[in-house]
Amino acid sequence: MKVVLPGGTGQVGAILDRALTAAGHEVTVVTRSPSRPHDLRWDGTALGPWAEAVDGCDVVVNLAGRSVSCRYTEKNLRAMMDSRVDSARVVGEAIAAAARPPRVWLQMSTATVYAHSFDTANDEATGAIGGSEAGVPDHWAYSVEIAKNWERAQAEAPTPATRKVALRSAMVMSPDRGGVFDVLSRLVRLGLGGPVAGGAQYVSWIHDQDFVRAVEFLIDRDDIEGPVNLASPEPLPHRDFMRALRTAWRVPAGLPATRWMAELGAFALRSDTELLLKSRRVVPGRLGAAGFAFAHPEWGRAAVSLVERARHGRPGRDADLLSQR
Ligand SMILES: NC(=O)c1ccc[n+]([C@@H]2O[C@H](COP(=O)([O-])OP(=O)(O)OC[C@H]3O[C@@H](n4cnc5c(N)ncnc54)[C@H](OP(=O)(O)O)[C@@H]3O)[C@@H](O)[C@H]2O)c1
Repeated sequence: MKVVLPGGTGQVGAILDRALTAAGHEVTVVTRSPSRPHDLRWDGTALGPWAEAVDGCDVVVNLAGRSVSCRYTEKNLRAMMDSRVDSARVVGEAIAAAARPPRVWLQMSTATVYAHSFDTANDEATGAIGGSEAGVPDHWAYSVEIAKNWERAQAEAPTPATRKVALRSAMVMSPDRGGVFDVLSRLVRLGLGGPVAGGAQYVSWIHDQDFVRAVEFLIDRDDIEGPVNLASPEPLPHRDFMRALRTAWRVPAGLPATRWMAELGAFALRSDTELLLKSRRVVPGRLGAAGFAFAHPEWGRAAVSLVERARHGRPGRDADLLSQR
C-alpha cells in the first residue's frame, strides 16, 4: 500500500513509519521540516505539492498536532487546537480534491475526549464525553473541546469515496526515547515512580505493537467508520500502573508524590498535570466487538515486554509478536 502520514515525524509517527515500512508498504511523511527522502513539506494549513501524494495513495493517517506536553497557557492551548483542526481540515481538502482518493483516512483523535471517570469504563457507544465534570480544572474542558473540534473537522470533510475513522487513542507505550514510557521509566529508575495524588486515577494505555496492529486492522475492515477507541481492555489505577512498571524494572519502591508536588514537577518539566491526574478509564468496545485480539492486553506483562526492548535497544516488533502473525 501507499500510506501518507501527515505529522508522521513524532512519537506515534515513528512507530507507524517503522512498522509499515518494515511490512513492505510505501510510506510518505508530510512534515513542516522535511529531512529524509520520504518526507514532503507542508505547513499544516494549506494545500500544496504535498497533496499530490494523497492523490492515488491507499491510506492517510493524520497525526499532526502541536505536542500536548507543554504548559497549558492560552497561547499553547490555542496552538493545540488550531494545529489539529487546521491540519485535519486541509487533509480533508486534499482528499476531496484527489482524482483517486484514498480508500481510508484514519485521523488521530484522543481518549481524552471522555470524561474524568473512576467507576465507569467508557466505550464508544455508552461512554460519557467530558467537558462538564464538576471539580476539575477549567482547561480540562478545553482539551475535550479540542478533541471534539478535531473529530468534527474530519467528520465534516466532503470526502464521500473515503472511509473515515477517528482514532481515540490512549497513551501509546513504546520504548522510543522521549515517549511517555521512556519518561515514566526514567522516573521509576530514579526511585520517583510512586503514585501521584493518591494514584486512584485510571491510566488508559496501549502497547505500541497493538497500536500498529489496530491501525492495520482498521485499514482492512471496510465496515468500520467513525470513532474507535484504541486502548487496551484493561485500564488500571495509576498506583497499580506504576507498581507494575517498578516491578518490570525491578525497582522495589517509588516515592509517592502529592498533587502540589506533581504541579511543581509539571511546571519544572514545562508540562501540565492533566496528563497525570485526569482519570481516563477507556475501553476498546468497537475493536473488541469486531474481533480484534490484543497481543498485550494486560499492563504487567506489557510493561515487561517494553522494558525488555528498552534494555536491548530494540524499538520495533519483538519476536513474540512476530511469531503470532
Ligand atoms: N503519543 C500518544 O500516546 C498519543 C495518544 C493519543 C493521541 N495522540 C495524538 O496523536 C498525534 C501524534 O502523537 P505524537 O505523540 O506522535 O505527537 P508528536 O510527537 O508531538 O508529533 C506530532 C507531529 O505533529 C507535527 N506538528 C506539530 N505542530 C504542528 C503544527 N502546528 N502544524 C502541523 N503539524 C504540527 C509535528 O511534525 P513536524 O514538526 O515534522 O511538522 C510533530 O512531529 C498528536 O496529535 C497527539 O495529540 C498521541
